[in-house]
Amino acid sequence: MGSDSFQPIQGMSDIAAPDIYAWQRLEGIARDLLRRYAFTEVRTPVLERAAVFERSLGVATDVVQKEMYRFQDRGGRDLVLRPEGTAGVIRHLCGRAQEAHDARVYYLGPMFRSERPQAGRRRQFHQLGVEAIGAPRPAADAEIMALQVDLLRAWGLEGFQLQCNTRGAPGDHERVATELRARLTAQHDALCPDCRRRLQANPLRILDCKQETCRELVDALPPVTEWMDPAARTYLDEVVAILERLEIPVVRNPQLVRGLDYYVHTVWEITHPGLGAQDALSGGGRYTLTFGKQTMAGVGFAMGLERVLAALQSQGQQAADWAEAPQVWLVAQGQAAFDENLVLMQSLRMRGVACAMDLQGRSLKAQMRMANRSGCPYVVVRGDTEMEQGTFQLKHMADGTQRAVEMPELINTLCHPLAAAEQE
Ligand code: HAM
Repeated sequence: MGSDSFQPIQGMSDIAAPDIYAWQRLEGIARDLLRRYAFTEVRTPVLERAAVFERSLGVATDVVQKEMYRFQDRGGRDLVLRPEGTAGVIRHLCGRAQEAHDARVYYLGPMFRSERPQAGRRRQFHQLGVEAIGAPRPAADAEIMALQVDLLRAWGLEGFQLQCNTRGAPGDHERVATELRARLTAQHDALCPDCRRRLQANPLRILDCKQETCRELVDALPPVTEWMDPAARTYLDEVVAILERLEIPVVRNPQLVRGLDYYVHTVWEITHPGLGAQDALSGGGRYTLTFGKQTMAGVGFAMGLERVLAALQSQGQQAADWAEAPQVWLVAQGQAAFDENLVLMQSLRMRGVACAMDLQGRSLKAQMRMANRSGCPYVVVRGDTEMEQGTFQLKHMADGTQRAVEMPELINTLCHPLAAAEQE
């Protein structure tokens, strides 16, 4: 087997230092903020029965038709690696419907779509998503949109745009589909092959086709809201009015339809100019989903974390900026100092100080190199002299100063670095 056989599958990757620092920063900020919005985490399996997605997302959607990793296990079960989070989360909540009627949950984890890998399109990507259960209310939708914007701002992202539209109430769907078919059937030959298929199965999806010829036809259509019951327009107006009161900038896009069939009423996307062709950071909306005898209404969104990181990078954030170095590196000259440093390291760690040392018996010079590379603010050096005197050489890496200290001062400086700096 060549060495390529041991690489991850194209479109999937290992995530390690330094990139992992940026991931952990995003996750930490998100968990904190979601607690403030009263959301709790839910972790559902990565593998689900195909039926969970097929009916929820819609049999005619691109995700179900072309993008699911689907296989039969040894027991003949029809299984899918989850392509998104909403269906699994609602399946879970439907199983505990008594307590779930006002659930507010979030999830964070890998999703899988067997797409052709290209910039911004991965086969394994990570979503941070939220779902808030409850009947359709403009305030409920606006709150989740505001949360989404708040989160992007907390991560330090700028220049993104929130666009919204409505899919109308369930009763509007057939009317909109009929109107679209009536107008676009005459143009059948000008549509791209995908949209010719969509014309029967899912005409709404033609509205967000990226092909130039389809775009021209779509641009000539009236906004879909014209074919909806006025109540759908009023609902969207209210969502937009609330967002304005919350000072959340939002742009109406009458061609925004989203690629999944479970949506009703409000849908939205957030785009960022630093992303190129796949510029959607995030997508969300209001939906209704049924599992067995339970039907649940909710509103939510999911953000592609790879895309969020790419957008942050496009504005100059580097993953390495978030690396967390140990507080101190212990350097030993001689076996006795090494043995004592092991004990010191354990006791510092138990006091909450992040601490490291070489365990391979490297030279003093090599140990100092490791300490330097780690980016730690302090180095403690112990040799024969220090062992005899019961002292430590404490080096402050920022200015290169070094002085002999005894144990109480060492502990004080490392456990309370800010207070120690003020005393100096
Ligand atoms: P979605 O628009 O399919 O919605 O995906 C949400 C986000 O996931 C996208 O905006 C994008 O950032 C990211 N994403 C999707 N596919 C890929 C890919 N192949 N590579 C990298 N990133 C990708 C949903 O999944 C819905 N479940 C959102 C939702 C939650 N609606 C209501 N609740």
